[in-house]
Amino acid sequence: MPTPVEKKRSSAHAAGDFSSDAPPPPVVLITGASSGFGEACAQHLGTKGYRVYGTSRRTTWDLDASKDSPGTNSYQMIPMDICDTASVDAGVDTILKASGRIDVVVCNAGFGLAGSVEDSTVEEAKRQFETNFFGTWRVCRAVLPHLRRQKSGYLVIVGSLAGVMGIPFQAAYSASKFALEGMAEALRMEVKPWGVHVVLIEPGDFRTGFTRNRIKSDASGTNPDYAATFARALAVMEKDERQGPSPEILARLVERIITHPAPRLRYTAGTIPQRLGALLKRVLPGGLFEWLMMATYKMN
Ligand SMILES: NC(=O)c1ccc[n+]([C@@H]2O[C@H](COP(=O)([O-])OP(=O)(O)OC[C@H]3O[C@@H](n4cnc5c(N)ncnc54)[C@H](OP(=O)(O)O)[C@@H]3O)[C@@H](O)[C@H]2O)c1
Repeated sequence: MPTPVEKKRSSAHAAGDFSSDAPPPPVVLITGASSGFGEACAQHLGTKGYRVYGTSRRTTWDLDASKDSPGTNSYQMIPMDICDTASVDAGVDTILKASGRIDVVVCNAGFGLAGSVEDSTVEEAKRQFETNFFGTWRVCRAVLPHLRRQKSGYLVIVGSLAGVMGIPFQAAYSASKFALEGMAEALRMEVKPWGVHVVLIEPGDFRTGFTRNRIKSDASGTNPDYAATFARALAVMEKDERQGPSPEILARLVERIITHPAPRLRYTAGTIPQRLGALLKRVLPGGLFEWLMMATYKMN
């Protein structure tokens, strides 16, 4: 939910009311909580009284080893590789065994692949989709039976502004996020009858581990026809990310979404110029918008 009742529960816990008659807090699963957005969300919701499970590929099965967040609450890390169906199912089972329910799922885990289309192999592009798109699909399939059975829930999918406008030299990344847009739009209608809210968050550039974790296609930078423009465009992206807003903004947005009784399908997040870009794409002539994008990435 949180339905108004659960909002009350949540605030009871946030206020430190852990007496036995306080209702149990809503249960949240956040994929990719070892860094960036996921970590910020886990910390934020942990302090607000939610029972939060974060996932990482690099953690062990130790539900007792909860990670303290700055407030009175904590969140727990469990291992999950969203590229592996058995790992996703095992993670969801662990949470259900420990908590009996899942109320909110934030499909956040992902990474960026950089490189021109010509310099990126089909295998590299598939790996990008395997995490960002099929990984999210896997998590949705694992949790939806439970959310539908409960007749409630929030499925928050972290897309990107790169899923609304193609970013040069991030074609595979953009395509994976465009794919999530279509999936979320369709899924939202499919599960609405069970009271499950599907929401897309479209962030611009934020200051997270994303820049450090970006993978360059093996041949990127080696092709003299693209090398200079690739380097310039990538430098712009990396600078915008490093100087971008804190992921805490997104954590607060997630909280707003999961306490709203009827959230919208899409929420953009980030700096005003970047959010404006999504609007400009809809209203400007295509040629002008393309010129602006190429100017932004120092390509014209
Ligand atoms: N930062 C930005 O500017 C920006 C902008 C728009 C959208 N986004 C999106 O925001 C989401 C979070 O990214 P971030 O910026 O927070 O980056 P980040 O700091 O690099 O965090 C990425 C998280 O994803 C997890 N992850 C990656 N591959 C995974 C896999 N196969 N299975 C499970 N977990 C995996 C990582 O966990 P482990 O490595 O520990 O497993 C890590 O916790 C991504 O979907 C990204 O596309 C980011």
